[in-house]
Amino acid sequence: MRSGAGLLLALGVAGVLLLRFLVLLPRRARRALPAEGKAVLITGCDKGFGHALAKCLHAKGFTVFAGCLLMEENGDGARELKNMKSDRMKVLQMDVCSDQEVAQAADFVKRTLKDPEEGLWGLVNNAGISTFGEVEFASLDNYKTVAEVNLWGTVRVTKAFLPLIRRAKGRVVNITSMLGRMVSPSRSCYCISKFGVAAFSDCLRQEMYRWGVHVILIEPSNFVAATGILTAAGIDRQAEALWSGATDTVREDYGSEYFTRHVAMMKSFVNSGLKDMSLVLNDITEALTSPCPKNRYNPMETYWWVRLQVMTHLPTAIADWLYIPGATL
Ligand SMILES: NC(=O)c1ccc[n+]([C@@H]2O[C@H](COP(=O)([O-])OP(=O)(O)OC[C@H]3O[C@@H](n4cnc5c(N)ncnc54)[C@H](OP(=O)(O)O)[C@@H]3O)[C@@H](O)[C@H]2O)c1
Repeated sequence: MRSGAGLLLALGVAGVLLLRFLVLLPRRARRALPAEGKAVLITGCDKGFGHALAKCLHAKGFTVFAGCLLMEENGDGARELKNMKSDRMKVLQMDVCSDQEVAQAADFVKRTLKDPEEGLWGLVNNAGISTFGEVEFASLDNYKTVAEVNLWGTVRVTKAFLPLIRRAKGRVVNITSMLGRMVSPSRSCYCISKFGVAAFSDCLRQEMYRWGVHVILIEPSNFVAATGILTAAGIDRQAEALWSGATDTVREDYGSEYFTRHVAMMKSFVNSGLKDMSLVLNDITEALTSPCPKNRYNPMETYWWVRLQVMTHLPTAIADWLYIPGATL
């Protein structure tokens, strides 16, 4: 009886996989949509993925609206994009935490589009910040600061640009992280912000089917060495705040030796991960140009892909036991 059920289950899984393969293969083979005549707004273009993506999409023929946090302060990233002196590279001031700046940006885009009635093809919610610190060290302000940019910034910008995206039957591409689907100790501030963006994107995707808009998640693994999201100086600053902000009880119970080791481990991440951003840039480009984009892209090495599958498919007790120091079965 049991072996019969097992055989049926195996046949079922094989059937589903074969169907997926047969359905997806011809879809993937379809030609990419042309970039010419399409405009995309990207947030957080001062550096990192956003800055590289602005240049990459511009090179492919898109008109790029590059939202920069530091344009008004003549920041390096914004200046470099402006110096391209291209009609198709439009740099704008945009703090995703500011209602006013986001509204001004939406207004600017609407006025600048060749035909506002045709709308905006793509919105890439990329701006983000990161932090670390175990729950007992992280202050409530830490949680709020990260969520303000990563989560509420994404919601604010998306709401402001959706009417234009709907006109174009375009794409919303949200950059979360593998930490928007699996968690890691000492990353709760970041994880809850990215899990929030993932939930927001899933709801929006379901709401947008009737409008012909695709909502896509990009879930990169570790590209810290390639971007500016985590620096040694930043970790030192955060560590100081975590230690001085903790209660006496927490400091005594965890101990300075443990804390120092933990900070050193975080610092070792600064030069870790993939140094080449092309996996991320290619997936975002596919999300914007494929006639049938996937709902989720996982630009990552095999190690992290396997770990993501284990963490999201196996019972948590087993997954933790495999990967998390101190976990027992
Ligand atoms: N790098 C990775 O390993 C990795 C992995 C997974 C996911 N991600 C995600 O990828 C996205 C880009 O990260 P990144 O690694 O490229 O980091 P990055 O190099 O630090 O770039 C992030 C950009 O966002 C900007 N920004 C910060 N706060 C902002 C605000 N309030 N409004 C507008 N822009 C703001 C930053 O401006 P300043 O330069 O002025 O701070 C910076 O230009 C983030 O959402 C991040 O969570 C990164």
